[in-house]
Amino acid sequence: MMKINLKTKTIGQPFVWVEEIDSTNEELKRMAAADACHGTVICAGHQTGGKGRRGRTWDSPKGDNIYLSILLRPDINPAQASMITLLGALAAADSIEAVCGAVCQIKWPNDLVLDGKKVCGILTEMSTDMNGIRYVIVGIGINVNRNTFPEEISHMAGSIEKKQGREEIIASLLFHFEEKYNRFLEYKNMAPFLKEYNGRLAGIGRQVQILSVGEKRICTSCGIDEGGALIVIDEEGKREKIISGEVSVRGLYGYV
Ligand code: BTN
Repeated sequence: MMKINLKTKTIGQPFVWVEEIDSTNEELKRMAAADACHGTVICAGHQTGGKGRRGRTWDSPKGDNIYLSILLRPDINPAQASMITLLGALAAADSIEAVCGAVCQIKWPNDLVLDGKKVCGILTEMSTDMNGIRYVIVGIGINVNRNTFPEEISHMAGSIEKKQGREEIIASLLFHFEEKYNRFLEYKNMAPFLKEYNGRLAGIGRQVQILSVGEKRICTSCGIDEGGALIVIDEEGKREKIISGEVSVRGLYGYV
């Protein structure tokens, strides 16, 4: 069981806790199909089929970690929805900082890194129909207190190493997410968040590797623009917009 001291109006109303589930994103999709309302949050003790981005899995053992998904029914254009993921990253970073004092960086678009290791990942999924967005689900996984990882991710995965505070992190995360989400709806872009996002962005002002299919280039990262795209300058001085999903960005010497 979990007791959350919610300080939100809509996000986390209702808040559903389950000990075990295949994936909180999948369960929330089923709930959305059964008319669950905007703001519904489901949180699990562990996942048997945790999903990561690009068809990867998200290892989700029992313990003190956070596996939660937020259901949103925004009245925005489907093309604007990917920015909501960036809000999730900001809210998660704020909550970790508020509760644990640990300052996470963001690896664009939405991984949180601490001491060079990934401690949080976000998977946003959307359902649309002829009328636009039916729903958006933001799934957030945070390694709160973990020191063993599957071998293939052990070089890059880390945790915030807190034995207590999971409930407070969740309450703070939902509080910050609600505040940012409401502000986002006023502008429908990242303009109000450029300073905080770029302030946390790993590699900003430095050289990064841009990896796309069969290609690797070195560019200088200039931070995100109002649409949430990463702006980079290539070796010939040409400015370019990197759209999330197309490519991965890496540091010159590894993951961050
Ligand atoms: C990634 O970095 O690849 C994204 C990981 C997202 C993991 C979370 S855990 C809660 C939610 N349910 C899932 O199955 N995935 C997301």
